Amino acid sequence: MKVLVVGNGGREHALAWKLGQSKKVEKVFVAPGNAGTARDAENVDVAATDIPGLVQFAKSQAIDLTVIGPEAPLVAGLADAMEQEGLKVFGPSRAAAELEGSKVFCKNLLHTANIPTASYQTFKTGGDAERYIKDRYPEPDEPVPVVVKADGLAAGKGVIVCDTRHDALEAIDRIASQREFGEAGNELIIEEKLTGPEASVLAITDGETIITLPAAQDHKPAHDGDTGPNTGGMGAYSPTPVVDEAMMARIEADVLVPVVHAMKRARRPFKGILYAGLMLTPAGPKVLEFNVRFGDPECQPLLMRLQSDLFDVLEAAADGRLSELEPLQWDERPGTCVVMASEGYPGSYDKGHEISGIDNADALEDVKVFHAGTTIADGQVLTNGGRVLGVTALGSTISQAKLNAYSGVKEIRWRGAWCRKDISDKALSTI
Ligand code: AMP
Ligand code: GLY
Repeated sequence: MKVLVVGNGGREHALAWKLGQSKKVEKVFVAPGNAGTARDAENVDVAATDIPGLVQFAKSQAIDLTVIGPEAPLVAGLADAMEQEGLKVFGPSRAAAELEGSKVFCKNLLHTANIPTASYQTFKTGGDAERYIKDRYPEPDEPVPVVVKADGLAAGKGVIVCDTRHDALEAIDRIASQREFGEAGNELIIEEKLTGPEASVLAITDGETIITLPAAQDHKPAHDGDTGPNTGGMGAYSPTPVVDEAMMARIEADVLVPVVHAMKRARRPFKGILYAGLMLTPAGPKVLEFNVRFGDPECQPLLMRLQSDLFDVLEAAADGRLSELEPLQWDERPGTCVVMASEGYPGSYDKGHEISGIDNADALEDVKVFHAGTTIADGQVLTNGGRVLGVTALGSTISQAKLNAYSGVKEIRWRGAWCRKDISDKALSTI
């Protein structure tokens, strides 16, 4: 079988690496890929959002399965374009991807289906949103615990957590007047600020059957102790003790199953990865957001732990045959992924620094370096993005997995490289 993975991040390197281990897969292409996928698969010089280019490539190579990594091509309708040409795809249609592409759509669906989420209001103009804040919180100094969100895709940045009236009005101004997130800010949501630990629960579904993956925890803030600006994710680990068996059963029954049914009822049957971003509040788990793809970096430790053939699973989902699949097999050992980033990220950063030590890190037992923002020039691996590498490791305990991942990190150098030092410590503090 020939497989095409679309995207160029750490998630796509992990997908390509795992798909390449399938006995059924003879070739994995990655479009456009990075220096890591160039080594573990074959890169194709077509952008992840070039829908006609990707369809043409898949047809010309008679690709048996296309796996779409990032949200942008899904929301733009890549899965639909592929299927129209009779090509098999793992990933939701454009209509189903609105679950991530529009937070207003997502919140309204959750509300209609009675799925627990923060209470919210939607607004078409900044003026209406401002009036709501001023009416609801008339005292200038009273606490205003709300979260202001841009409706559309904003690379994880269009969510502003507020404590004061000033924070909330400023957030509305940034989204609606300064248009910091462009068209994503055409509509706004203001929702209740929740508290509690966060967890990512991902499920594979063909629109009927749901296979839940072990829960993971991301680390979105840039700095240790969850401080600093939000990023795409500075590290992840799985499984997480904050989601025990009883909590997982509750999340499946109260969130995942009703969402799959609600999407079917809305005539947007969902096929692909359903990623619930959850807050485990004192009143139970509540949905913060849905993503329609693997999380990055959650994907890296999850796939390192997966022992089943990933091609079989994704193909069965694409074919609507998930109910026939054997239960997934997992390595019992926890996995941890530490993201190494460029100096300046998540703000502006340089590219083109020479990276050394990747092979030494990869040679360590139970360690795999997944590339994200890397490229190759004259045989040398160079930095090419903000999140550069995801050093991922298994270990007999979470502490051991962490130690193994940081042993890999220690081998790797480039000018300005940095990472959080506390990835997975949240697990230890909850035990
Ligand atoms: P999202 O992209 O919607 O998951 O939001 C990004 C981050 O903002 C989440 O990981 C949470 O830390 C935070 N967040 C989003 N919504 C809320 C909420 N209603 N209450 C508290 N924090 C939130
Ligand atoms: N790690 C968070 C995300 O992929 O959206």
